Amino acid sequence: MKFFIDTANLAQIKEAHDLGILDGVTTNPSLMAKEGIKGNEAVMNHYKTICEMVDGDISAEVISTKFEDIIEEGKKLAAIHKNIVVKVPMIKDGVKAIKWFTDNGIATNCTLCFSAGQAILAAKAGARYISPFIGRIDDSGWDGMQLIAQIVQIYDIQGYETQVLAASIRSPNHIIQAAELGAHVITSPLDSILGLLKHPLTDIGLAKFLEDAKKSQ
Ligand code: E4P
Repeated sequence: MKFFIDTANLAQIKEAHDLGILDGVTTNPSLMAKEGIKGNEAVMNHYKTICEMVDGDISAEVISTKFEDIIEEGKKLAAIHKNIVVKVPMIKDGVKAIKWFTDNGIATNCTLCFSAGQAILAAKAGARYISPFIGRIDDSGWDGMQLIAQIVQIYDIQGYETQVLAASIRSPNHIIQAAELGAHVITSPLDSILGLLKHPLTDIGLAKFLEDAKKSQ
């Protein structure tokens, strides 16, 4: 399972990258705004900086919603770097655009997926990734992991090549459950990734080893 970090914060991207486990980065307009990245040139430059930091798929999201505009915007994003994956929303014009990008050699990540039907459409259009938002589904009282399981099963039965990218991760446990269910990728905030490190028995055990080591020095 690939690990992507879900942020536009360069320090956090560096920290995850330095850990040696990072396979890519996802961003979205909200995450860019959170970092104060404003204006087309600044946005483009920020994506370029991320691409130079991490050698893996970097999702850059379009803000257009009409087919022709999505294509124009996506082409500009894809031209920034070979590793850019154009992130396209799950809307009618978005599906049409994903098919166009697929036919023209541009990789896509279909975002804002909340149902198996949407995931089937994204796969049919040739998206490289489908991003079901598990945390937001949980927030609305449904079960995000159930959707991951359903999409993984459908893609497996149908032989679709689209990779299931579990997004909107809220906890280390979400990452573990996504791995158990066969998600191909998770994209997570840094704190949930680092949360995987933690176990009180590890801390207690290490403290004891270090204490005992002093006895033999
Ligand atoms: C996915 O690529 C999205 O950027 C992200 O995972 C959304 O997460 P959120 O629901 O925490 O905003």
